[in-house]
Amino acid sequence: SIAIKVDALLAKMTIEEKIGQMNQYNGFWDVTGPVPQNGDAAQKYEHLKKGWVGSMLNVKGVTDVRKVQKIAVEETRLGIPLIIGFDVIHGYKTISPIPLAEAASWDLEAIKLSAQVAAEEAAASGINWTFAPMVDISRDARWGRVMEGAGEDPYLGSLIAKARVQGFQGDDLALANTIAACAKHFVGYGFPEDGKDYNTVDVGTSTLYNIILPPFKAAKEAGARTFMNAFNELNGIPATGNAFLQRDILKGEWNFDGFVVTDWGSINEMIAHRYAENRNMAAEIAIKAGADMDMESYAYVNELATLVKEGKVDEALIDDAVKRILRVKYELGLFEDPYKYCNEAVEKEVIGSKRIMDAVLDMAKKSIVLLKNENNLLPLKKNGQKIAVIGALADDTTSPLGSWRIAADDGTAVSVLEGLKAYKGNTITYEKGADVVTGETLFPKELTINVSEKSGFAAAVSAAKSADVVIMVLGEHGLHSGEGRSRSEIGLTGVQQELLETVYKANKNIVLVLNNGRPLTINWADAHIPAIVEAWHLGTQSGHAIAQVLYGDYNPSGKLPMTFPKNVGQVPIYYNHKSTGRPTIPAPGEVFWSHYTDVSNAPLYPFGYGLSYTTFEYSDLKVNVTSNTTVTVSVNLTNTGNVKGKEVAQLYIRDEFASVTRPVRELKGFELVELQPNETKTITFNLTDQELGFYNNNGKFSVEPGTFSIFVGGSSDATLTSQFEL
Ligand code: IFM
Repeated sequence: SIAIKVDALLAKMTIEEKIGQMNQYNGFWDVTGPVPQNGDAAQKYEHLKKGWVGSMLNVKGVTDVRKVQKIAVEETRLGIPLIIGFDVIHGYKTISPIPLAEAASWDLEAIKLSAQVAAEEAAASGINWTFAPMVDISRDARWGRVMEGAGEDPYLGSLIAKARVQGFQGDDLALANTIAACAKHFVGYGFPEDGKDYNTVDVGTSTLYNIILPPFKAAKEAGARTFMNAFNELNGIPATGNAFLQRDILKGEWNFDGFVVTDWGSINEMIAHRYAENRNMAAEIAIKAGADMDMESYAYVNELATLVKEGKVDEALIDDAVKRILRVKYELGLFEDPYKYCNEAVEKEVIGSKRIMDAVLDMAKKSIVLLKNENNLLPLKKNGQKIAVIGALADDTTSPLGSWRIAADDGTAVSVLEGLKAYKGNTITYEKGADVVTGETLFPKELTINVSEKSGFAAAVSAAKSADVVIMVLGEHGLHSGEGRSRSEIGLTGVQQELLETVYKANKNIVLVLNNGRPLTINWADAHIPAIVEAWHLGTQSGHAIAQVLYGDYNPSGKLPMTFPKNVGQVPIYYNHKSTGRPTIPAPGEVFWSHYTDVSNAPLYPFGYGLSYTTFEYSDLKVNVTSNTTVTVSVNLTNTGNVKGKEVAQLYIRDEFASVTRPVRELKGFELVELQPNETKTITFNLTDQELGFYNNNGKFSVEPGTFSIFVGGSSDATLTSQFEL
């Protein structure tokens, strides 16, 4: 068995070789070029040859992976293979929608398939391990990394975490087309104060247990073989040095037997956090807290042996970490064949194959959310229309790839313009109108969003004047969200808002297609523009997906996985908030209730919201309590419009009274249902203790008897309601 093999190998290892397994280096030299002779790279190369490196990240492609693997396997004393990690976040070379967009599909099978094809491509390129899924819940649209998660809800987030882990890892990790998953960032990274990346996280236990931890638990239960800790501190202790999180919860209570990798340099960052005095102390804290592999802090490789010799760190902790790492390497089949992921023929055949292109196109269509469609401006007519397409993002073949897609080449996405031009019956003119960003590349210095040039406005206005319909593609460039890209204003960037208002004066028949990696504040657009389509950053096939939705060849069914605020002052805004002691206005004109004086409490678009080209009606809500902790809810859903369509039927509960206050609503069930016009289906939701219970402030889960309300419908604002008693 693997356990016996791991023990036997461990028994042969020197302390340095053991620590080597716990050391991960970033790809440090162009392996097709000369071997590094001096500096950091030369030292890393020496370490690699000595067997002091257990893993590398950012080495990709069969040729390169084979070369580094060959050194580990053929030049080191024990020949232990490397595990090769990479950020395969939403696709590898062929890019699927950003994870937030995929979450808008609420289609777990499609999300799983998207992760599966990403794994296949990455594996074909020599990679064994992805640093995904990011399962951080976030309620703050200012935080740039919301694009990488599943949104604000722990129930939806947990199911998506499971789907993604299963997609990456498949049923058998030893196959050459599956890779190990990594649930990250453990934990709390999605709750930075003021939405600023890497910032302090200070949350109460109720939020920690009920909101933040559940998707991680779901990822563990789905079999995620690795976890990544986080840059942030949580309630005064950096996550990387947090024994409560990594030892007590993850490896203790949850019995996780995979390994924990640190985030990049996060052991060292404990010094900047003022939690460790120096690297030696940081290494000691991290190993004791349960961090098994050091990503790019150079802390374990330089400090651990001394710490063991000095008796400050028990070698048993090292042995435990090494066993975890070796176990995963065995499970991946790397000992059997270290080159099993290194096959040029497979690499050539799999990457960019039609099957994978089809999967990302399908995922892209499913991710689109129709936010507004007044007077049925959409779908577009297919013949004889004059269409003006406006906006720099409409003609962009890089931005749709979004953030975190490091293996994909710039310029490989289908633009909206190309997608629309694939339909022949209409006349299309294009005007940029205004730039969204300056410079050829965005990272890092050209991330300027204050692009003020308006000289293109006149041409845009004139194109709009002679058009039947204007399609404006506006929002954020793909690299305006992602790591390190927090924003304090979350409207359209640069002068796009002015462009929109200027063009509107010339032609009101506007379809606004949004490209963005986070909820945006688009109040003006919602009040004036007749049709709004949320198209996120949809990946390689973006333009085709958008065109098919605009032309009605695909009826949109996406629903928002994150609340859209009216203004940034409402942030953090989320549907599953608590009630407060003063939730509603006591009498007209009263001021002493929980509200703003300058904006309503309501969001612009609620969580779970999204329209279709057809309409749906919910009726006949029935509730049946079958035991102390099982309840069945059924409802009839009818397609009341003229075309076939899909609806995400959602069930929310409210525990009316409990020993710890409960949210006003919590998503506890959903089903994606396809209906023909006039067709009705009965949908059944089963609530068990899992859905009805909650964690108290000591982390104890239980169901408390009493009154529960339920709400069923097409968004978190659902009005069809009933109650039951437990
Ligand atoms: O996986 C990432 C992580 O999410 C942020 N820091 C760097 C890691 C490796 O690239």
